[in-house]
Amino acid sequence: MIKTLVFGGAFDPPHSEHVAMCKAAMRDVGADRLVIVPTYLPPHKSAGMLTFEQRVQLCEAAFGELGAVVDPIEREREGNNYSALVLPELKRKYGAIVYLIGGDSLQYIDTWYRPSDVFKACEIAVAPREGYEDISAASKRAESEYGARITVVNYVGKDVASSSLKAELLLGEEPERIPTSVMKIIEEQGLFEQYFPLIAKLKSYQSDELFAHSKAVVKRAVDFNSKHHLGQDFEKTFLAAILHDNAKQRPSLDGLDVPSDSIGSPVLHQFLGAEKARRDFGITDKEILDAIRYHTTARAGMSGLEKLIYTADSLSDDRMYAPIPELRRIAIRDFEEGFKATLKFTYEKLAARGKGIYPLTVEAYKFYIEND
Ligand SMILES: [Fe+2]
Ligand SMILES: [Fe+2]
Repeated sequence: MIKTLVFGGAFDPPHSEHVAMCKAAMRDVGADRLVIVPTYLPPHKSAGMLTFEQRVQLCEAAFGELGAVVDPIEREREGNNYSALVLPELKRKYGAIVYLIGGDSLQYIDTWYRPSDVFKACEIAVAPREGYEDISAASKRAESEYGARITVVNYVGKDVASSSLKAELLLGEEPERIPTSVMKIIEEQGLFEQYFPLIAKLKSYQSDELFAHSKAVVKRAVDFNSKHHLGQDFEKTFLAAILHDNAKQRPSLDGLDVPSDSIGSPVLHQFLGAEKARRDFGITDKEILDAIRYHTTARAGMSGLEKLIYTADSLSDDRMYAPIPELRRIAIRDFEEGFKATLKFTYEKLAARGKGIYPLTVEAYKFYIEND
């Protein structure tokens, strides 16, 4: 009897950890065939993503070495694409199937749509992942409560997020974890090049050091967003982060509208940055502009994106002096706690300096720290 391993995901883009996980799972469950199922999203939910066709093509390249079939079933179906509905169809098509999932998703069984239908349709292979190594409790529970048949894959995947690799590609880098075959298509078709002109322009306004910092803030922000499931829009995060310091080294007011009490102070560049992002980079989205506008001072009642950019800017990996690495560790563990620790540290540093604190920062401190 032929056994088929099924693995689904957005694959925006697929990377080498996906491939390594499938390879190990095929070996451990004795699968003869691999079927890759890219997630289909309606157009309004997939803005900023590669198209379904592009993701299918990249999957064919990425998983080609394992002889995979890439099945566009999610696009062909009309209606909901819950695993509980798609897997029985795949079973009719391919026979015995084993559904490969990451260790983290097993923790959230109760949030799945009709979990018992999933476990009825197929065996499960669970791949542990860095940070989610211990899945024995979750798998025991799935076995006893849902009658799940589970194989734990003997491979601990690295915690690689497609969104981080995507950010690197958009910045013009070549991430190691993108397979060569995938990289070739990306280059041939000019994928992920949409921000190259914007980035080139920004670079002309910044020293090498400041540009490197801007890129580090992008990576930190995208990483916080995916690790902590903050749910911020990828493109807004990317644009706010890359442009946050666009005015730092060009302080001319040019008649732009900035608070008069910020003129001549270091916080000017946040207000000017928002105005120049609009004027020079065509940014009109208010959320992005506000994330730039308050990235230095913070303020009371910040939006999720404002907090994300503020924290990523303070804790970007290019800052290696004490106590930043420690604050960064806190934020990697718990984002909200890291944000508050950062605000508290900044406020106290400014207070100790005794040169006055910009009113917005005082308000932020009262709002998030004193009244907490
Ligand atoms: Fe800044
Ligand atoms: Fe910055």
